[in-house]
Amino acid sequence: MQLRVLMVGSEVAPFAKTGGLADVLGALPLALAQRGVSVAVLMPRYGFIPLDRLQRVYDHFPIVMGSDQIPAQVYAFEDRGVRYFFLDAPGLFGRQGLYAEKGQDYPDNFRRFGALSIAGCEAIRRLFRADILHCHDWQTGLAPLYLRERYRLDPNFMAVKSVFTIHNLAYQGIFGREVLPMLGLPQRVFDSGAAEFFGKVSYLKAGIATADAVTTVSPTYAKEIQTPQSGWGLDGLLRTRKESLHGILNGADYSLWDPAFDPYLAANYSADDLTGKATCKRDLLKTVGLSADDLENKPVIGIVARLSEQKGFDLVGAVADDLMREDLALVVLGSGEPRYVDLFRTLADRYPDRVAFRAGYDEAMAHKIEAGSDLFLMPSQYEPCGLNQIYSLRYGTVPIVHAVGGLEDTVSEETGFRFVGYSGGVMLESIRQAVKAYGNKRAWRKRMLAGMSLDYSWAASAQQYLDLYAHLGS
Ligand code: ADP
Ligand code: GLC
Repeated sequence: MQLRVLMVGSEVAPFAKTGGLADVLGALPLALAQRGVSVAVLMPRYGFIPLDRLQRVYDHFPIVMGSDQIPAQVYAFEDRGVRYFFLDAPGLFGRQGLYAEKGQDYPDNFRRFGALSIAGCEAIRRLFRADILHCHDWQTGLAPLYLRERYRLDPNFMAVKSVFTIHNLAYQGIFGREVLPMLGLPQRVFDSGAAEFFGKVSYLKAGIATADAVTTVSPTYAKEIQTPQSGWGLDGLLRTRKESLHGILNGADYSLWDPAFDPYLAANYSADDLTGKATCKRDLLKTVGLSADDLENKPVIGIVARLSEQKGFDLVGAVADDLMREDLALVVLGSGEPRYVDLFRTLADRYPDRVAFRAGYDEAMAHKIEAGSDLFLMPSQYEPCGLNQIYSLRYGTVPIVHAVGGLEDTVSEETGFRFVGYSGGVMLESIRQAVKAYGNKRAWRKRMLAGMSLDYSWAASAQQYLDLYAHLGS
């Protein structure tokens, strides 16, 4: 019988994206569908998602939370064998932000994502009969808990197994205990074996504690989060669940991230013919206002990231002047915390001939930087998986990474530069080595080609999820 999987998450590319979660939810369902799974994905219908291509499939979708019945309907869309359901609850999601606006989290996020979690369960009864309810990150952490508390005795749910994937342990969805009655959850879930976390309610913990299986997005991160240093207070719980905790590396969607086909590039190229990469470099430099003539033979380091503490740019701040003493250029795209925006803006002001900074979110620019840079810097403090280094490898853009989490699992000495130890000095040394290595054109080309030949497509990872689903069903 065909396996049926319902994924629930707060962002799915191309409909809504702030980071890698969207990339994964945009690609994994398609990879599963290609392997014969019947897959549906449920996400919120945010205010910026137009309704004109969607079909309304459910009026008065029942989301009962405490004493509230939340007005909602569901829209659907189908693409390459995957059904996408959009939860249209205008009072909760009809906004321009996913989680926040002007740097402020929405104060009703507990309700918004409580509702999404309930909708995930209701969808199994009303929209898509599933064997597996696969939830992602804290925004859907309550779904396995609702499944246990509210739906278990319903015959529709007897055989349903839940999977909870941690994309980032640092974002936990923590709220005061007063939210429980508003969520319609009984006081008994306020227990250290369920949703209680240091006197508060943790959505992430609820997912980890109550799902049938827990996964995270790389094997190394799966080990790291079981240690007090990287466990964000949840390492003890994760250790108790270690038999059910699986590290499955993310894949890359090469239909979107391959320089041979990428429509955003000034020229396409591949391992067989790299000439287009030089064109992309000139185009990138020109686009960001740097001189292609001056810089075409110097190493250009690219950065594309959410500017949050996780991403390690404090290290860049710590050694900025020494870094700029090297014969290199820097092209940075990012949005996020003002202190990092200031850091890169100041660098660009001080070194206008060699540093370009674009603040904001820009899909086309992200692709141009992947293709037009020689090196790609990811000094992340921690990195559950990381997708940009995987994209960089395919683009012949040699990654420099702090060897943690998924960065450790995907970048080797042959394909990139890895540093061990989270310090500006250690990072700088690694960048110096990379700049020096760039001078040896033959060895550099070999390094590029080694990265380009790697295959991190979803095939292998999707198979691991399939094995897990099968194991749960047996
Ligand atoms: P995270 O999910 O922690 O942000 P990942 O490396 O897994 O990190 O994924 C980041 C994704 O978001 C990549 O697809 C990257 O290209 C994209 N991205 C991040 N910042 C920006 C930005 N400012 N503009 C465009 N794309 C961005
Ligand atoms: C998170 C992590 C990132 C990972 C992404 C997708 O945002 O920070 O490392 O690649 O999720 O799983």
